[in-house]
Amino acid sequence: MKKTFGIIGAGNIGQTVARHLLKAGHPVILANSSGGNALNEIVRSLGPGATAGTIQETAQADIVLLSLPWSEVPTLTKITDWNGRVVIDATNHFITYAPEFKVQDLGDKASSEVVASLLPGARIVKAFNTIFYKTLAEDPNIAGGHRVLFVSGNDLEAKSEVKSVIASLGFAPIDLGNLHEGSKLQQAKGALATLNLVRF
Ligand SMILES: NC(=O)c1ccc[n+]([C@@H]2O[C@H](COP(=O)([O-])OP(=O)(O)OC[C@H]3O[C@@H](n4cnc5c(N)ncnc54)[C@H](OP(=O)(O)O)[C@@H]3O)[C@@H](O)[C@H]2O)c1
Repeated sequence: MKKTFGIIGAGNIGQTVARHLLKAGHPVILANSSGGNALNEIVRSLGPGATAGTIQETAQADIVLLSLPWSEVPTLTKITDWNGRVVIDATNHFITYAPEFKVQDLGDKASSEVVASLLPGARIVKAFNTIFYKTLAEDPNIAGGHRVLFVSGNDLEAKSEVKSVIASLGFAPIDLGNLHEGSKLQQAKGALATLNLVRF
């Protein structure tokens, strides 16, 4: 039985990851901020296996993907009991977009450590945040190699599960270690952010 993914944020990244998951046979449930017809239309375009949910329903899935704006993450704290839940954090901590692309000053904290503090007990795995969504949408199997996706997290079991799913989609997961050190490399403005690499 394939794991169900709850995708909070049904925009560029949410839909792109949903397409890869659906292709691999995972049911996906998506939520956005507005719901209604717009969300139903998105779900219809994704095809069989995709359903629309409330944000609360989406947070009950086996694995939750955060693909909403950074500024909105604090709204999720009280929507469910996050304790023990595997949550993939694909957000980037931008406070402005083009042309400045300013990030929030988080001091010594990694952005996913801030997310972890906002979702108490969640087993956070940082992934799917480094590549532009149009590139992420492309076939990850390239000339015998696999497009790289960086992964970091403190919970080894959760990270291992997410790495397995990523590999099953055709990507090459590269484990950067824990959130404090690893995810800083892959988060916005980190040394590995935006890199589009292929592992042969
Ligand atoms: N775009 C990229 O290439 C890219 C790459 C890597 C990482 N990221 C990161 O991924 C995240 C999403 O980016 P995106 O480009 O996919 O943004 P986007 O296209 O603007 O989509 C954002 C989605 O989040 C939903 N949303 C907003 N507030 C919400 C809330 N409070 N609860 C639930 N859903 C909410 C929006 O719903 P409504 O439309 O109904 O408001 C929309 O479906 C950001 O943190 C971004 O930094 C983006």
